[in-house]
Amino acid sequence: MSPQPQNIHTTFNRLLQREDKEAMLNQKGMVVWMTGLSGSGKTTIAVELEKLLARKGVLTQVLDGDNIRSGINSNLGFSDEDRTENIRRIAEVSKLFVNCGVVTLNCFVSPTKAIRQQAKNILGDDMVEVFINTSFEECEKRDVKGLYAKARAGEIKNFTGLDAPFEAPENPFLNIETVGRSVEECAKQIFDAVLPLIRK
Ligand code: ADX
Repeated sequence: MSPQPQNIHTTFNRLLQREDKEAMLNQKGMVVWMTGLSGSGKTTIAVELEKLLARKGVLTQVLDGDNIRSGINSNLGFSDEDRTENIRRIAEVSKLFVNCGVVTLNCFVSPTKAIRQQAKNILGDDMVEVFINTSFEECEKRDVKGLYAKARAGEIKNFTGLDAPFEAPENPFLNIETVGRSVEECAKQIFDAVLPLIRK
């Protein structure tokens, strides 16, 4: 079915404002966008970060590739086109959360500069980019989900870092090196940098 823009009457201007909700929650809504290879530690670090923020009373929502792709984006695969649509929808969903004053912790490979720029275009200054910097070799060594072995065996096509690109961010808000560091340390580094943005 084709969209019918002429029949869409948005109600955004009549809704309770973002500022009202942020005041209720005593926090500023924002998106901490984590990019990195599959298995680099994005979700593991986000779960730990969420605990640290919860202790400060910050309301968060973790969004991650495997969850989103089992629900709202279950019709998308890993072609360039599908990844672009995946990230577009996630950015739009995140924007709804941010407008409720929620801090979303986004864990997506989001492999190219163009894909991350698309998210940035939707979210603007409400988004900070965090590079979960774990090398391909290290992710393959960890292979938490067994996907690297499958990709090497040719059972998974378009695998990020193998036969699909990963472009590291050049100038991220934070560059989190994970090798030789604990999950807690990595999460604390992000926590220290984002808390001042959430509680101004
Ligand atoms: S993205 O490239 O579109 O941003 P997303 O973060 O949603 O990817 O999903 C990545 C997750 O899907 C990985 O952590 C992994 O578990 C799984 N996955 C399955 N196939 C692939 C693939 N070809 N490339 C990368 N990840 C894959």
